[in-house]
Amino acid sequence: MKKRFITFEGGEGVGKTTQIRRLADALTSRGEDVVVTREPGGSPGAEAIRHVLLSGAAREIGDDLEVLLFAAARSDHVDHLIRPALARGAWVLCDRFIDSTRVYQGLNDIDPDLISSLEVVATDGLLPSLTIILDMPATKSVERIKARALKESEADLDHFEREDIAVHRRRRSGFLAIAKQQKDRCVVISANTKEDVVADRVFEAVSSRFDLDDAYCPRDEQNASNAEVHATT
Ligand code: TYD
Repeated sequence: MKKRFITFEGGEGVGKTTQIRRLADALTSRGEDVVVTREPGGSPGAEAIRHVLLSGAAREIGDDLEVLLFAAARSDHVDHLIRPALARGAWVLCDRFIDSTRVYQGLNDIDPDLISSLEVVATDGLLPSLTIILDMPATKSVERIKARALKESEADLDHFEREDIAVHRRRRSGFLAIAKQQKDRCVVISANTKEDVVADRVFEAVSSRFDLDDAYCPRDEQNASNAEVHATT
C-alpha cells in the first residue's frame, strides 16, 4: 500500500494550516486515522529545537548551524512520530518538510551538498507520497502576514516572516521549481482564491492519488475534528 504521507509546502501566509485542518477533517469523517503535524517540531525533541530556530538565535550564529538544527529536528520527528504513525496505517499530514529546507535554507549561502546530505540523514529515505504546494503571489503573502501582524502583535512574528518581498518572491520561485522537477510527487494549487475552492482542489489531488470516493465533498465535513494533532503553538 502507498505510504499515506502528505506534506504541505509554500511561502508564509498561504493558508497551509487551514487547508491541512480541512483535509484532516475530511479524512477523519470517513473514519480514517489521521495525524496532523508540522516542522520544525511535531515530536518533543523537535519542538524543543523549534524554539531555538524560530527565535532567530541559530541564524545569528550561522547558516550552517541553522540547517543542522532543522535536520536534527526532522530526524527526531521522522523517527518518533512520522514513521510509527505510517507503520500503524495512519495518514500523516505534515505542515512543511524537506522542500522548506531546500527553499528557505537553499537561499542562504550554504553548500547544496550539505543540504542534500543532511536531507538523507534526517529522513533516512522517507519521502512524502504527495506534496501539495500552495501557491500565491508574494505581494498577497506579504499582505496576509501584515494583516496577521496587526491582529496579533508585530513582536509575535518569527524572524522568517519579517523578511522583505524579494525574499518571498525567491521562495515562491523555489517551490515552483521543485514542483516542475518532481512532477510525480508535487502538485501546485493556487491559494489565491476562496478557502472552499482550495479545499476542494486539495481533496481532488488526494483522492486522485489515493483512490478515495469521488462523491465525497469536504465542504460537508467542516465540523468533524478527530485528528491527532501534533502542531500545537
Ligand atoms: P511556522 O510558524 O510554523 O510558520 P508557517 O506557518 O509559515 O509554516 O514557522 C516555520 C518557519 O520555519 C517558516 O518561516 C519556514 C521556516 N522553515 C525553514 O526555514 N526551513 C525548514 O526546513 C522548515 C521546516 C521551516
